[in-house]
Amino acid sequence: MSTVGLLTAGGDCPGLNAAIRAVVAAAIADGHRVVGFRNGWAGAMDDDTIDLDRDRVRGILGRGGTILGTSRRDPFVHGNGAASISPTLGRHGVDTLIVIGGDGTLRTAARVDAEGIPVIGIPKTIDNDVPATDVSFGFDTAVEIATEAIDRLTTTAEAHNRVQLVEVMGRTQGWIAVHAGIAAGADVILIPEFPMQLEEAAEIIRGRHERGRNYSVVVVAEGIDNPRVAPPPKDAYGFERLGGVAYEVAPILEALTGFETRVTVLGHLQRGGKPTARDRVLASRLGAAAIEAMARGDRGMMMAVRGNAIVPVPLTDLGDEPRGVPRELYEVARTFFG
Ligand code: F6P
Repeated sequence: MSTVGLLTAGGDCPGLNAAIRAVVAAAIADGHRVVGFRNGWAGAMDDDTIDLDRDRVRGILGRGGTILGTSRRDPFVHGNGAASISPTLGRHGVDTLIVIGGDGTLRTAARVDAEGIPVIGIPKTIDNDVPATDVSFGFDTAVEIATEAIDRLTTTAEAHNRVQLVEVMGRTQGWIAVHAGIAAGADVILIPEFPMQLEEAAEIIRGRHERGRNYSVVVVAEGIDNPRVAPPPKDAYGFERLGGVAYEVAPILEALTGFETRVTVLGHLQRGGKPTARDRVLASRLGAAAIEAMARGDRGMMMAVRGNAIVPVPLTDLGDEPRGVPRELYEVARTFFG
């Protein structure tokens, strides 16, 4: 019997509870014990734990958030690396730590493993920007929510002859923007990976209106780096607090086009609430795969999606950069602009 430590860190996303449930169910079925750390790495640094038995994870599959809580505290930034969590792990007899997180958390997990604590990673994030995996859970739900919101905003934009800007999350990558934008038929999509001058966006909107349409929907990724846009402030963990860039873009587009413009920032709505069936299934598969990997003796590995398969890849394959939208996908989106 092994003792498995489990934590969720970074921004929450739909599917975290499904993954927790899967890890616990698979671990207990194999005769192991699971200790959860509250609020991400903070629980491992401060010895704040919760025993995760089968009863504790009943009824959570379809619930948003994470029963473990999460935070952006990091043992390398706010402590002295693995040494700041090893006393707690030793006290609870943890043999393997399973870390559910986005790219930043998983890079920290790689460093913790390199400093001697066996770690297995599970990728999650609505941003879909974790390298070395085709997709992360949370993304499908965020795209569904954003698509429905854009659909709704389209009808009111049409009724009022307006240009409607919809800002979506995604940090420095435009995955949510491109997927939801294609799905909802956006007229322009602005993403960080392939910057578009606002003059060009205005030209596309004007052209559309000249062809007889009297409204336009523009999807704006929160991380666009337009030279006219102010740099974002930082939160208590030194993490850039994005959100609201569309409010800076709107008056510029309004001035360039002459059309009345409105802004909706979807914000944390994209992360809250129940996961889609697809995210529940993916999170469940990844959680079970992590326990299988542990049983094989894997460590320093992340459970990744490659096509339809879940495969272990070294956490060190994450590299330094998030995974961006490929040009081919943005070109598909561009086909429908205007
Ligand atoms: O990484 C997920 C994410 O939702 C980003 O899309 C967004 O920029 C960020 O987290 C928001 O973080 P917070 O919850 O700290 O405001």
